[in-house]
Amino acid sequence: MVVFLLRRVKLLLLLLRWTPVSAQGGTVTVPLTAPASAPPLSRSLVSFSLEQDRWGDWIGQGAGNAFFLNTLNNLKQLTGEPARIRIGADSEDRTNFNPSVQLSESEFPAISTILPYPEATENVVGANFYLLASKLPPGTQVTWGVNFGQNNITAAFLEATAIVNAFTSAAFRESNITLEAIEIGNEADLYTSNGARNSSFNVQQYVSQWTTFANNVTAAANHILGTNVPLQGAAFAGSSHSSTAGFSPQAIFQNGILSSPAGSQIKLISQHHYSGSFCTGTNGILQDLMSKANIRGNLTSYSADIAAVRQKGLTYVFGETNSIACHGAPGVSNTAGAALWGLDYALFAGQLGITRLYFHQGIGYKYNFIQPATLTNSILDGSTLSQALSPHIQPLYYAAVVATEAIGPSGSTTIVELTLNNAQISGYAVLEGNVLVRAVFINLNAFTTGTRGSVHLTLDFFGYGKQPVSFVVKRLFIPTANATQGVTWGGQTYETQDGKVSGVLSTMTVPVSQGLNINDTEAVLLTFS
Ligand SMILES: *[C@@H]1O[C@H](CO)[C@@H](O)[C@H](O)[C@H]1NC(C)=O
Ligand SMILES: *[C@@H]1O[C@H](CO)[C@@H](O)[C@H](O)[C@H]1NC(C)=O
Ligand SMILES: *[C@@H]1O[C@H](CO)[C@@H](O)[C@H](O)[C@H]1NC(C)=O
Ligand SMILES: *[C@@H]1O[C@H](CO)[C@@H](O)[C@H](O)[C@H]1NC(C)=O
Ligand SMILES: *[C@@H]1O[C@H](CO)[C@@H](O)[C@H](O)[C@H]1NC(C)=O
Ligand SMILES: *[C@@H]1O[C@H](CO)[C@@H](O)[C@H](O)[C@H]1NC(C)=O
Ligand SMILES: *[C@@H]1O[C@H](CO)[C@@H](O)[C@H](O)[C@H]1NC(C)=O
Repeated sequence: MVVFLLRRVKLLLLLLRWTPVSAQGGTVTVPLTAPASAPPLSRSLVSFSLEQDRWGDWIGQGAGNAFFLNTLNNLKQLTGEPARIRIGADSEDRTNFNPSVQLSESEFPAISTILPYPEATENVVGANFYLLASKLPPGTQVTWGVNFGQNNITAAFLEATAIVNAFTSAAFRESNITLEAIEIGNEADLYTSNGARNSSFNVQQYVSQWTTFANNVTAAANHILGTNVPLQGAAFAGSSHSSTAGFSPQAIFQNGILSSPAGSQIKLISQHHYSGSFCTGTNGILQDLMSKANIRGNLTSYSADIAAVRQKGLTYVFGETNSIACHGAPGVSNTAGAALWGLDYALFAGQLGITRLYFHQGIGYKYNFIQPATLTNSILDGSTLSQALSPHIQPLYYAAVVATEAIGPSGSTTIVELTLNNAQISGYAVLEGNVLVRAVFINLNAFTTGTRGSVHLTLDFFGYGKQPVSFVVKRLFIPTANATQGVTWGGQTYETQDGKVSGVLSTMTVPVSQGLNINDTEAVLLTFS
């Protein structure tokens, strides 16, 4: 009875503390231990895919592009493992090799309002192009794509040879920069629509032609490496999710892709995913991207594919992903609200069994985490800027920082999604060696103007283990969902000249009994001790 009354009083006090716009977050139950089914989380869950036409600008000359390398080193410092890098994408299938080319020679189409920074139509690269990867942070694992789209096996052979020659050279060995895999072709399921193959190209022909290329590429690469080179398979733009129709991991398995000697070198299966498209200039709405239900809908549609891949003992990755296809939508992909999308998307994907997400980046793309080069045209419409923009991060970079900090350096992290009584708040428990250590909560309500809403959450724990009595809260402050700058993480900013963090860290220790408020368009990381 006394307990009951005390609870009533506590509830009353809580009610009094609420502002009029507070919504009920309710009590969230946090597990102290993880279920055996919780998949381990890679320290490089958030990784990057780079459009290879301007790889030279990303990595830079001399000692390298300090801004880009600093942004990668920030993440490496949080977990000890650098973000992995996939280099390829559309321009992977438009690249040829010529030993007499110094670095790369590319032809770019005219810019447009939809694509202010279009991909090159043709690239010719020399050996240095690949050798530049030795400047990545020590320990970086790289996946590189070779040309399958142009159906020129000599191009694929020369590229694969140059890649493996680079990764076996002294500079790479000294920096421990390794070739995680070679990918043969990008989004082959689109070849019939982009002219790379005629209308009769289907998954059976894909498997047969890919196998011919893979036999050649692996013969060359295995010989230089002295061991079998791992391959990354599929890299499709979409999925039929079926073993009997269209392009999907299930369909290529059904057609025997793993049974050839070269196919047996597939260690990872990659699929590509975007939640919408700006290819015809249709913008979309930020709140639709920042939707808990949409994020879950987009990712769970891959559940059967993930299961089919893991059942074969292979690693499943999103080898290319981001918010909206065709480089992002203005006012959506480049905003601070998109950082919350990215954070929830990555963590939800991680607990679904997607081992790694390579967020796609190109120089001047709207959905970038990192803009590593000086820009003279607007990323939004291509207009000439009155003042050039120096290298800078975009708000999505904070998704990488927060996710990576939540995962931490243990190497034994698992996450469990929490059930919340609110359609727009997501939450995750983070466990290390099966002990609750942290939690992440994300309020996906898009705040732009007017009164900012908030929710109050009360934490309850279940399972075996010590019940925390307090936690340290670190907040991702976002001015407004549509802001493109001014985000801070624990009071600190990465919006700096050199891409390194600046400012004084600010966190707060809160008794569990007090619970916490989370403003609309805010994420928090709780650390339990
Ligand atoms: C080299 O990098 C790998 C990750 O690619 C890491 O597991 C390994 O510990 C590193 N080795 C050294 C000697 O640093
Ligand atoms: C791979 O293709 C190249 C170029 O066409 C050719 O010289 C080489 O002999 C091929 N290798 C194999 C093992 O077929
Ligand atoms: C295929 O690639 C090779 C090597 O770069 C090149 O010499 C040849 O012209 C290409 N063939 C076609 C048909 O483009
Ligand atoms: C498509 O190309 C293949 C060979 O690459 C050829 O055998 C086939 O006849 C072509 N089909 C059409 C419809 O042009
Ligand atoms: C994916 O998200 C977008 C908004 O970002 C939404 O329009 C679409 O319906 C979602 N798709 C699924 C399958 O949930
Ligand atoms: C955000 O949207 C609000 C409401 O439409 C608008 O008033 C404000 O100027 C926008 N802010 C930015 C930074 O675009
Ligand atoms: C939450 O929003 C309220 C109202 O705008 C503001 O006073 C408060 O400082 C915000 N809290 C945090 C932690 O940002």
